[in-house]
Amino acid sequence: MDYLEIEGGHKLNGEIIISGAKNSALAIIAATILTDKPVTLTNLPNVVDIRTMLKLLQMLGAKVEHNDTVAHIDCSSINSTKAVYEIVAQMRASILVLGPLLSRFKECSVSLPGGCAIGQRPIDLHIKAVEALGAEVTFKEGYVVAKADSGLVGNKIIFDKITVGGTENALMAAALANGTTEIINAAKEPEIVQLCQMLDMGGAKIDGIGTSKLVITGTNGKPLDFKEDVYTIPDRIEAGTYLCVGAITNSEITLKEVNIEHIQTSINKLEEMGFSFDIKDNSITIKPASKIKKVNIVTTEYPGFPTDMQAQFMAVATLADEESLVEERLFENRFMHVSELNRLGADIWLKGNTAAIRPVKELNGANVMATDLRASSALVIAALAANGTTKISRIYHLDRGYDRLEEKLSKIGAKVTRKSDK
Ligand code: EPZ
Repeated sequence: MDYLEIEGGHKLNGEIIISGAKNSALAIIAATILTDKPVTLTNLPNVVDIRTMLKLLQMLGAKVEHNDTVAHIDCSSINSTKAVYEIVAQMRASILVLGPLLSRFKECSVSLPGGCAIGQRPIDLHIKAVEALGAEVTFKEGYVVAKADSGLVGNKIIFDKITVGGTENALMAAALANGTTEIINAAKEPEIVQLCQMLDMGGAKIDGIGTSKLVITGTNGKPLDFKEDVYTIPDRIEAGTYLCVGAITNSEITLKEVNIEHIQTSINKLEEMGFSFDIKDNSITIKPASKIKKVNIVTTEYPGFPTDMQAQFMAVATLADEESLVEERLFENRFMHVSELNRLGADIWLKGNTAAIRPVKELNGANVMATDLRASSALVIAALAANGTTKISRIYHLDRGYDRLEEKLSKIGAKVTRKSDK
């Protein structure tokens, strides 16, 4: 199995080009099911989750040509509406085919994703959304079986909790429905905005884009027609992660191809911690600080502080001047990185959904284990500042969401090597 060996303590310097957003790409790949014409997606990150989603489409019968950052997808040949366990078990985001399959083919079955490393992650809100549009949903042998014999019909969907994936499924289900759908308490993440813009360009009219009330006028069964290629927005979490790399190593690093607005909360928190920035159009340079100041973080929905950045900030806060606090409000089990960071010499204590990060003078290399995607990136960040060598195992988690991580880090001077246990 592959592992990363990181020799810490080196000052870094240089430029990193940020890739397309994994989470946006997953939704726009699912949205191609809504058309029977070929679509081209560009600026896709070259990561395992994207390849898994494309494989799922192929298993449904779509034709896919994929080369690095570009995918040509033709969903005219879809001949199955079943997302099988083998693929959903690999990646929960497979649930995103529920809305578009149901909307276009009036029926589908999708394996239940089950729990995952960061929490229970139910899909009840996805199901309530399609039921509101008239789908009949049953559960059979571990699958969600959804049917809408006469097609979906527009309605009001009120989410009692904000959900990114649930909003995406609701949008894609409503896109081909008969009539107008209102989504109340919709998620406002940049990934939702991108999906709305794509669906709107394809012929499903959407009002309120970027707000918590989305109004979608469906096409009454007519497949969408994406007249233009879809360019994946920059990955705000990858960008935030590399800002944390710059922060913990106290290095000057420039990120290119970034959407500054999307990473504003991470910038604000790093400013509170003493770092400064040069920002120009879509590029940002982090400047060293004289010392790292403590930070208090509460994760919440966009435009609040993202849960996907909590672990990386915790790694930086280990070397702060005073105790920092991180409260996780979205997922109940997203602290698996804590014990691994402590193996590197951090002093982090957990009480309920809050972590207290007590300052330590230094981190020291050790053998650690990646547990989920963002937890793994926190270990990389800590390892870059630790004395000596850190071995991070189970890096398949990192490969799911970070495009060319070792290459990008090596380019700015980090000593990172991928090795393999026989
Ligand atoms: C998306 O997951 C992202 N994944 C996650 O990124 C991200 O952490 C999360 O949004 C929050 O920002 C993708 O976009 C593929 P949610 P999603 O539905 O859509 C609860 C990463 O590292 N909930 O917004 O699954 C849920 O349990 C990942 O890239 C229900 O109760 O998240 C959570 O507490 C991991 N019922 C909260 O809502 C439901 O039916 C928010 O989850 C759905 C969700």
